[in-house]
Amino acid sequence: MAEELDKAGIAKAYARWAPIYDVVFGAVFDRGRKASIAAAERIGGRILEVGVGTGLSLADYSQSNRLIGVDLSAPMLRKAKARVKEHRLANVDGLAVMDAQHLGFADAIFDVVVAQYVITAVPNPEATLDEFARVVKPGGEIILVNHLGAEAGLRAAGERAFAPLARRLGWRPEFRWQRLEQWAARHGGVKVVERRPMPPLGHFSLIRFARLGGVTN
Ligand SMILES: C[S@@+](CC[C@H](N)C(=O)[O-])C[C@H]1O[C@@H](n2cnc3c(N)ncnc32)[C@H](O)[C@@H]1O
Repeated sequence: MAEELDKAGIAKAYARWAPIYDVVFGAVFDRGRKASIAAAERIGGRILEVGVGTGLSLADYSQSNRLIGVDLSAPMLRKAKARVKEHRLANVDGLAVMDAQHLGFADAIFDVVVAQYVITAVPNPEATLDEFARVVKPGGEIILVNHLGAEAGLRAAGERAFAPLARRLGWRPEFRWQRLEQWAARHGGVKVVERRPMPPLGHFSLIRFARLGGVTN
């Protein structure tokens, strides 16, 4: 599909962003990160953070949860590894280079999958969500926090204008809620349990999908 993103291009872009990522995107996305962690910790247990980046969120999880983080970008992960060492995060069981669309984990082994600001950066969001649903246990949750495009009006026009630049960062400002809703309906083994506006400016959303029992994808 013409609008789909190129994975190698995304990896290259984040290799360039890695040295300055925390300064540019640390504080601005912090509320969303913390809200998704709070949601994940209501379930707790084994948590997979996909697109963990420089590991900005890792120290915010309670030590009682076991964490694994994966990311496409080795330079971003190097920062995450340094952070784990610096903060002595003994509850982080591993950080690995991995493509969200092809997770190297067995089925149904995580209680929660968290993806903060990631789902619009992958070439195929639906295939990625299928993978998230595959590795989550029945009764577990998939928790996303992400920008979702406006349906209409001034913000939608602004987002269309911004799209070519955003795409280089692996973001799709035009990515709409309906796409996630349609994925859930098609998948059949998940249910939307929450969609909540998030700062900055309420243009972001926290989305929770519950993994239904007994259905495998
Ligand atoms: C906007 S950053 C978000 C990082 C972190 N979650 C945060 O809250 O700051 C997007 C992250 O997704 C990663 N990413 C992009 N495509 C990916 C893929 N296909 N598989 C795994 N990670 C990916 C990027 O390398 C980057 O670290």
